Amino acid sequence: MKTPITVSITGAAGQIGYAILFRLASGFVFGPDQPVNLRLIEIEPGLPALQGVVMELEDCAFPLLNEVVATTDLDEGFKGANWALLIGSVPRKKGMERSDLLGINGKIFTGQGEAIARSAAEDVRVLVVGNPCNTNALIAMNNAAGISSDRFFAMTRLDENRAKSQLATKAGVHCSDVTNLCIWGNHSATQYPDFTNAKIGGKPVTEVITDREWLEGEFIKTVQQRGAAIIAARGASSAASAANAALDTVKSLITPTPEGDWHSVAICSDGSYGIEKGLMASMPIRTKADGSWEVVQGVPVCEFSQGKIDATINELKEEKEAVQGLIPA
Ligand code: NAD
Ligand code: LMR
Repeated sequence: MKTPITVSITGAAGQIGYAILFRLASGFVFGPDQPVNLRLIEIEPGLPALQGVVMELEDCAFPLLNEVVATTDLDEGFKGANWALLIGSVPRKKGMERSDLLGINGKIFTGQGEAIARSAAEDVRVLVVGNPCNTNALIAMNNAAGISSDRFFAMTRLDENRAKSQLATKAGVHCSDVTNLCIWGNHSATQYPDFTNAKIGGKPVTEVITDREWLEGEFIKTVQQRGAAIIAARGASSAASAANAALDTVKSLITPTPEGDWHSVAICSDGSYGIEKGLMASMPIRTKADGSWEVVQGVPVCEFSQGKIDATINELKEEKEAVQGLIPA
C-alpha cells in the first residue's frame, strides 16, 4: 500500500467543503491506488455540522480513505499536510465585491500561514480558495516562514473553466476543444480572460469566433461577473463548480501539462510579464514532468491585453497595500 497523502481542508463543513471532501476521498484527484488522509478544520460553530460530514464520510466506506480528523486546532489540522486547501472564510453576499471581504477574512490567513509552517509536511502545497483568494494567499505565504513561495497558489481555475465554457458555447463546440486559456491577474471583476492566445480545435479563437466586439465586451464581462450572477441566481456563492475547480487545480499541479498548453493559477510573481515581484497573480503555468511548475514565457501580449493586465495588477497592488498590517516586515 502507498503512503497516504494528507490533505488538510479549512472550512470543511461549508458549502465548498461539502462538495469537495467526497471527491477527494473517492480517489478522483490522486488516483485509484492512492490512500488519502483528510484533516478537517473548522471554527467552533462549524463543529456540529462537521461531525455530520464525518459521519457521512464514514458511511461512504471509501476504500482509499485512510484517516479522518476533525478539529478546530490549526496545528493538529495541518499536521503532516502534503496539501492544504484553505477554503474556510466568509463568502460575499449580493452587492459586494470580493475585496470587501478583506477586512473580515484577511486575518484568518496569518495564523493559518504560521501553523502550516510549524506543522505541515516539508513538501506542503497550499491552495487558497477563500476570497479574496489572491491577497489571502499573499498573507498566508508571508506568514509561513521557511516555506518556499513556489508552494503557494490561489485559485483562478474556476474563471478559466467559465471562460472555456463561454467560448465553446459561442463557437458551438465542446469545452474540451478550448485550450491555452489564461486568466491573468486577480480573481475579481478586473481579471482578464485572455481570448487572444486561446485556441479552439488548435486554431486561434479569433479565427473561429470573428465577432471581436463580443470577445472584447460581453465575453470578458460575463466571465468577470459570473460569480456575482451565481450569487444573484442562487442566493449563495458558487460551491460545486468552485470545489470542482479546486480539484482541477490540484490535478493540474500534479500532472504534467499537455505539450503546448497551459493552465491558470495565481502564483507568487517572479517579475515575468512585468508583473510586480511578490504579488500573487494568475498567469499561464505549466507543470513539468518532475512535478515542479514554471511560468510559460513568451505568450504574446498585445496592446489590448496589456491594458487589461495592467488594470488587474494595479488592483492586486492596492489590495496588498491594504493588508500591509498582516504581512510581517
Ligand atoms: P460557507 O460559508 O458555506 O463555508 C465556509 C466555512 O468556513 C464555514 O463552515 C465556516 O464555519 C468556516 N470558517 C470560517 N472561518 C474559518 C476559519 N477561520 N477557519 C476554519 N474554518 C472557517 O462558504 P463557501 O461557499 O464554502 O465559500 C468559502 C470561501 O470560498 C468564500 O470566501 C468564498 O467567497 C470563496 N470562494 C472562492 C472561489 C474562487 O474561485 N476562488 C469560488 C467560490 C467561493
Ligand atoms: C466565484 O467566483 O464564484 C466565487 O469567487 C464566489 C464569489 O464571490 O463570486
